[in-house]
Amino acid sequence: MAENTRRDFIKRSALGTAAMLVYPPSRVLGANDRVRVGMIGVGGRGQELLKQVLEVPSAQLVAIADVYTDRREEAKKMAPGIQAVDDHRRLLDMKDVDAIIVASPLHIHCRHFLDTLAAGKDLYSEKTMTWSIPEAEQCLAAAKKSDRVVQIGLHHESSGSLADARKWIKDGIVGKVTQVESWMSRNTPRGKGQWVRKVPSDCTAQNVNWKAFLNGRSDRGFDPFKFINWRLYWEFSGGNVTENMIHQIAWIMTALDLPEPSAACMCGGVFSEKDGREVPDTIVATLEYPADTVVTWQSTFSNSHYGLGVRHSPEILRIRITWPIGSIACEAARLRTLLLRSATAQRLRPTW
Ligand SMILES: NC(=O)c1ccc[n+]([C@@H]2O[C@H](COP(=O)([O-])OP(=O)(O)OC[C@H]3O[C@@H](n4cnc5c(N)ncnc54)[C@H](O)[C@@H]3O)[C@@H](O)[C@H]2O)c1
Repeated sequence: MAENTRRDFIKRSALGTAAMLVYPPSRVLGANDRVRVGMIGVGGRGQELLKQVLEVPSAQLVAIADVYTDRREEAKKMAPGIQAVDDHRRLLDMKDVDAIIVASPLHIHCRHFLDTLAAGKDLYSEKTMTWSIPEAEQCLAAAKKSDRVVQIGLHHESSGSLADARKWIKDGIVGKVTQVESWMSRNTPRGKGQWVRKVPSDCTAQNVNWKAFLNGRSDRGFDPFKFINWRLYWEFSGGNVTENMIHQIAWIMTALDLPEPSAACMCGGVFSEKDGREVPDTIVATLEYPADTVVTWQSTFSNSHYGLGVRHSPEILRIRITWPIGSIACEAARLRTLLLRSATAQRLRPTW
């Protein structure tokens, strides 16, 4: 994988806003300085990223690929002048595209990852990297062989609070962390299941390339509900582990510099959203790490009281890191004083 190429902007950009620091808007860019971007999958997340790409002065959105006509039309409205194609291979054939952003459903990430590198383009792919571990191994091998920039879209990894927490933990300010509790709690009115999206009236077999969506899953007639609500079903999704836990566990592992867990267990099931979905709405997962640290993650869709959170319980101090990024509250006066003196901490707006 290439290090520090001019296209490193992808690593820091929209995709992590620090690109603005590297390429301030006042800088006048020539065509050769711009990274020409293509996108695969412009649904919910893809459209958020599309808006952010349009704000990066050193990027030029050239084309998008999506299997659904509606999404292609929406993208063209957001970025008039771009090309919109129905097959990602046509996008990858375009010589005037340098870098690809993938925001397709999880079960197609591996194909889009491998095809993008094979086409010689840089890649930013939304989390989670792949649907299965063998697919992740294939992608890792391809990335190692490639000289292209590759980043997986865990954008909280680019946060200032993570950089600071990592430093403070490394510097020994918080002592040895033996336990981390983390959670994600949501709620939705009864009968309106969390994550369930309404199927648009024009989401028909004529307007969707269903075979491309299935990506090798068993052939069957078009199912608009599954096409729109793919994250509720195991054949397309990893449930809340790959949708949300991934963000928090990656953050914790980076902050504490943890290796892969040595043991893991998980309990839960479909306890509150009994609407035909397969993936659990209620989860308690425990991960044990070789560095004498245990991390728990809990998720519920039936009580949002605690929101999102991470709490470390080290030997010496207790730190509460509220989620998403932005504030770190510490219970020790020593650390509080230190943080308040630091410009970085002010940027983080401590909550005390
Ligand atoms: N980082 C974050 O905070 C965040 C937030 C939401 C979603 N995501 C991730 O983004 C990805 C997409 O999620 P979403 O909610 O936008 O899903 P979505 O269903 O809204 O969008 C997926 C898009 O991909 C298109 N698509 C399906 N098959 C395709 C194919 N073979 N080729 C090209 N396009 C295809 C669909 O038509 C749709 O427009 C997922 O991996 C999800 O985990 C990340």
